[in-house]
Amino acid sequence: MLEQFKGVIFDLDGVLVFTDHFHFLAWKKLADEEGIYFDEKINDRLRGVSRMDSLDIILERAKKTYSACEKAKMAERKNEFYKTYLARMTPEDVQKETRETLLELKKRGYKLAIGSSSKNTKFILNQVDLTSMFEAISDGTNITKSKPDPEVFLKAAALILEKPENCCIMEDASAGIEAGLRGGFKTIAIGPAIHDERADFKVQKFQDILAFLPALHR
Ligand code: G6P
Ligand code: MG
Repeated sequence: MLEQFKGVIFDLDGVLVFTDHFHFLAWKKLADEEGIYFDEKINDRLRGVSRMDSLDIILERAKKTYSACEKAKMAERKNEFYKTYLARMTPEDVQKETRETLLELKKRGYKLAIGSSSKNTKFILNQVDLTSMFEAISDGTNITKSKPDPEVFLKAAALILEKPENCCIMEDASAGIEAGLRGGFKTIAIGPAIHDERADFKVQKFQDILAFLPALHR
């Protein structure tokens, strides 16, 4: 049992909302326009990875070299495609079980935070009406290194005034599991990350985390 935990830090894309699929669609459109091969398997390598680092992974298969300025414009183009999907998101895009689980964790006494590499984090949380659920948001706008560097999770833990060893992180990305471990957190894997042997706990469904996180006695 994880009874020593006080805080739970959640990745966003692919954990709380399925924006990971929107990322794929937007990168796929960009890659198709540029004539670069891209598929779901390559997309899995982009989970948790910053926008510019994701672009570099996609460009591994490009037939030409792009300048820094061209790359910046391509990343911006991808983000514009991506934002058209985000703009259509509503609170219905959060599973009922996810919302109920977050509320239950708060009731059990946990501090909840976000640790996401995305610069669109606050916009997404507002779209789906989840902002008020979290005591702290650490995202792509306040970090200098993206996952697998632990910075985003360390900042989240600092914001909720807890040490990493008193928090667990939840991730759908291998890069995120590695970030959690490097930061000294316990890690819960969901989705593609359950194939990562390094994860401490693995869940099939979001609500399964309640089994690891009993009510805290303060
Ligand atoms: C998350 C996603 C990544 C994405 C990154 C940056 O970590 O898993 O796929 O590249 O955020 O997202 P952004 O919204 O800033 O482009
Ligand atoms: Mg993710």
